[in-house]
Amino acid sequence: MGVPPSTRQCSSIVGGKVTGDDSGGRLASTNPARLSDIVAEVALGDRTTFMEAARAARQAQPSWSRVPAPIRGRVIAEIGRLVEANKEALARLVSREVGKPYGESLGEVQEIIDTCDFFVGEGRRLYGETVPSEMHDKALFTFRMPVGVMAVVTAGNFPVAVPSWYLVPALLCGNAVVWKPAEYSAAIATALYECFVEGGLPAGALNLVLADGAATFSGLSAALDEGLVNKVGFTGSSEVGARIGELCGRHIQSACLELGGKNPMVVMADADLELAVEGALFSGFGTAGQRCTSLGTAIVHESLHDEFLDRLTSSVETAIIGDPFGDVLYGPMLDRRFADRFDEYFVRLIAPHHRVLGSTGTGRISASNPRAGFLGDPDAGVFCHPTIVAGVQADDELAVTETFGPMIGVARFEEFDDAMTLANKSGYGLSSAIYTRAPEAVFAFHNAISAGMVSVNNSTSGAEAHLPFGGNGRSGNGSRQSGRWVLDQVTRWQSLNWDFSGRLQKAQMDTETVVANREFRLPD
Ligand code: UN1
Repeated sequence: MGVPPSTRQCSSIVGGKVTGDDSGGRLASTNPARLSDIVAEVALGDRTTFMEAARAARQAQPSWSRVPAPIRGRVIAEIGRLVEANKEALARLVSREVGKPYGESLGEVQEIIDTCDFFVGEGRRLYGETVPSEMHDKALFTFRMPVGVMAVVTAGNFPVAVPSWYLVPALLCGNAVVWKPAEYSAAIATALYECFVEGGLPAGALNLVLADGAATFSGLSAALDEGLVNKVGFTGSSEVGARIGELCGRHIQSACLELGGKNPMVVMADADLELAVEGALFSGFGTAGQRCTSLGTAIVHESLHDEFLDRLTSSVETAIIGDPFGDVLYGPMLDRRFADRFDEYFVRLIAPHHRVLGSTGTGRISASNPRAGFLGDPDAGVFCHPTIVAGVQADDELAVTETFGPMIGVARFEEFDDAMTLANKSGYGLSSAIYTRAPEAVFAFHNAISAGMVSVNNSTSGAEAHLPFGGNGRSGNGSRQSGRWVLDQVTRWQSLNWDFSGRLQKAQMDTETVVANREFRLPD
């Protein structure tokens, strides 16, 4: 497949206008499989850019919220159609800018289409309730009201699917949005922005801010101080999520936080071994292990452990890695910074009692540290060897550290309770999996695991776009995205009571009394 060679000029888009604002500096967004290919020249904004975007959103929001919800749903329908019509072009850009294998990129774009499809119908529902009153001539109702302006800050590992989980329901529900994508996925973010606007969104309903983390944090803080932002959605690291949570807490707001994970897969003695190996390969190494749902540690019953490890090792050893437009298990790291960090893990996390398996080297793949079966030129980009770390124990730092790269741990267990202790030990609680044929094991796992998402005989990755997505503990503050559950993030309940009696009827005081004979007993 041909890779388009053009370089895009990207900058923040505020109130429908391309600003060209480079007050925060400039950077080149490069193709991580071929660093000489500049995908976008990016003008970065600063704190003021964020503030201006929040002001534009604030200005646009009231009239957008007055558009009837079913018509807002029509806009979402048009956006979904445009994304579908541009599916291959968007997927190519995802593969080019962040290096996902093309098949995964198509899946990522499909997730936006699915999200639009789901919320089109919500435009005709957005149900509130009628609730009986304790008074005569009084009616009670609930309404879902937009929160106002939502700031959405997202990561680059799912550069368009995960943002759509926020943008689509937020806009459908009548909010305006300031979206700050990862700087290293600026071209694909701009392309998605364009699909949204061409779908019929009015200027200012969606604003794109390209800025680094520090400028974003400072702009968000100032926008919150000025009362310009009513809700924050953040997908990224637990460290930054905690800071955003603190910031929102000081402004009496609860952020929607979707953070990291150290996702366990428990393989029971009765598991379908082949299926478990396939699941570990996909969830451990898909997107080069850079999903928040990526497999962290496979915890395998001792009766299967050695065979599981042998089969997984040979699958990983023989997998093709390299050019994301080829038929590969995974491509490059999303960006150079993730490759640099991956190298550090070997120093910090690998202990003498571990066995490192899976490739012909560790760390960066290069001509001098080659990978057998590599597709393309490893020195042109930022590729890392797949790494299986066997012999993981509960006290290891590796057992509790999210590696966000192509590295998984394998541990063995005898007793189910020990497997669960290790599965929950990290304090994260995003995704999890159990492989077994026994219903009682499934329910024991579902009851004991701290994760927000549980897979049975399926890998830790691959959540469908209409089930609640989110985690607990270090993975998130209990907020959920996707499906109808995300509506609680992008709307607030308003209760309305309407007294048409013409009198002041006081609740709890002016209610009718019930006359009962409490002494009544049936004859023996
Ligand atoms: C993420 O890594 O932030 O379940 C989201 C999955 C994808 C979404 C992952 N559908 O792996």
